[in-house]
Amino acid sequence: MKKIMVTGALGQIGSELLMELGRFYGSDNVIATDIRLGAKEIAHSGPFEILDVTDGKRMAEIAAQYQVDTIIHLAALLSATGEEKPLFAWNLNMGGLVNALEVARERGCQFFTPSSIGAFGPSTPKVQTPQDTIQRPTTMYGVNKVAGELLCDYYFHKFGVDTRGVRFPGLISYVTPPGGGTTDYAVEIYYEAVKRGKYTCYIQKGTYMDMMYMPDALHAIITLMEADSYRLKHRNAFNVTAMSIAPEDVASAIARQMPAFKMDYQVDPVRQAIAESWPDSIDASAAKEEWGFKAEYDLDRITTDMLAKLQQRYCLPEAK
Ligand code: SER
Repeated sequence: MKKIMVTGALGQIGSELLMELGRFYGSDNVIATDIRLGAKEIAHSGPFEILDVTDGKRMAEIAAQYQVDTIIHLAALLSATGEEKPLFAWNLNMGGLVNALEVARERGCQFFTPSSIGAFGPSTPKVQTPQDTIQRPTTMYGVNKVAGELLCDYYFHKFGVDTRGVRFPGLISYVTPPGGGTTDYAVEIYYEAVKRGKYTCYIQKGTYMDMMYMPDALHAIITLMEADSYRLKHRNAFNVTAMSIAPEDVASAIARQMPAFKMDYQVDPVRQAIAESWPDSIDASAAKEEWGFKAEYDLDRITTDMLAKLQQRYCLPEAK
């Protein structure tokens, strides 16, 4: 049975991945770590340790204490926050990653870390961006992601660490509140639709980016981790996506289910510039061929689920 350490476990991906890993491998075998204590929404009955990922010594101690054989490294600053604090982003994103890879090397762990569509830049082909292509990102987050992809490849070739990873598109989810990303409009919009019936979007109409629903992202992580390694030609940084959409597509999907919903725009130049530097759509055929990646949720299905889950949280009368 695997013993999996998750860093950044209380973030957007981690908070839901813990539950999914718990179902698959048993929660006692999932060691959650984060720099802070979690909110009540995060249901994890297994071990939890406070960990600052820039502290490599403490990371190694926790891994030894729980006899960890798998590391899922999620702790990172996202694109918009990274632009506010670029040096901090470099130190956290790269320092945390190299510490986690070192622990994986010392202990012979399997290793997963996500890259992102943020690893692409303005000179990357914009439509159906191929798996292997030009990567000259213009954000600190993107610089970290490209360096991270290369570092994971390096640890595999040089040290034989079983590194694996995907390039996630924007992830839509309802457990943790959105924060710090460029694609987060596609999460915020559902919160605001439920709370106020309207949303002011910081990304311009007609700006296409790839998105995916969290259950598909979790499934992708576990499927790739379980895939036979002889099938993997790429290992790290597989393009994955469910759809390419613009803000008005999400607004229409919501309006189909909440006819009174209204959206207007107040564009944030920083996040708009980041969005424009990323692909409109990416090609996920390598992930499909090499380990059977598949996304189940389309925009209407995501919308039904997001609205139901958030309505349950914000609109139901308190239980007596
Ligand atoms: N969702 C991330 C962001 O917007 C991209 O991977 O920063």
